[in-house]
Amino acid sequence: MILRASKILPALALALAGALAPSAARAQTPVLSPTPRFAEKTGAEMYANVCQACHMSDGKGAAGAAVFPSLAGNVRLAAGGYGVSVVVSGLRGMPAFGGMMSDEQVAAVVNYVRANFGNKYTDALTPEDAANARR
Ligand code: HEC
Repeated sequence: MILRASKILPALALALAGALAPSAARAQTPVLSPTPRFAEKTGAEMYANVCQACHMSDGKGAAGAAVFPSLAGNVRLAAGGYGVSVVVSGLRGMPAFGGMMSDEQVAAVVNYVRANFGNKYTDALTPEDAANARR
């Protein structure tokens, strides 16, 4: 059977439009915040929109092309200042987020991680702790 281009092309265009539509919709859903500064307020929001991409929704991290350490039951988080310093300044493969987060956001997300995923560190960090880590 010989198909004429004039019949195939519109069908192809329709099929392509269909195939592209979902990815176009996805592109409008930002993985990271659309603003230079994150707009998220609570630690849970920050985690879901910033950290989860690498450390996973259960906090257990992942290993593949890179290793994303588990934050679940992570004893290094016992020292609150450690999490703050990693988030503000980065750590080798982890980007620094200090420039994109307010002191409140840094404290909120570190407090969230320290009080979830099996971590039970209840001594909450303050925005001042984050401010000190920037110096
Ligand atoms: C782009 C991927 C990525 C994102 C996003 C990310 N991390 Fe990380 N994180 C890493 C990697 C990779 C490491 C390991 C760095 C190393 O040791 O080389 C790490 C390490 C850490 C550590 C230290 C763990 C340890 O055992 O020493 C903490 C704490 C941490 N991340 C918290 C966070 C928090 C909180 C967020 C969200 C604000 C976040 N990370 C976002 C990739 C990421």
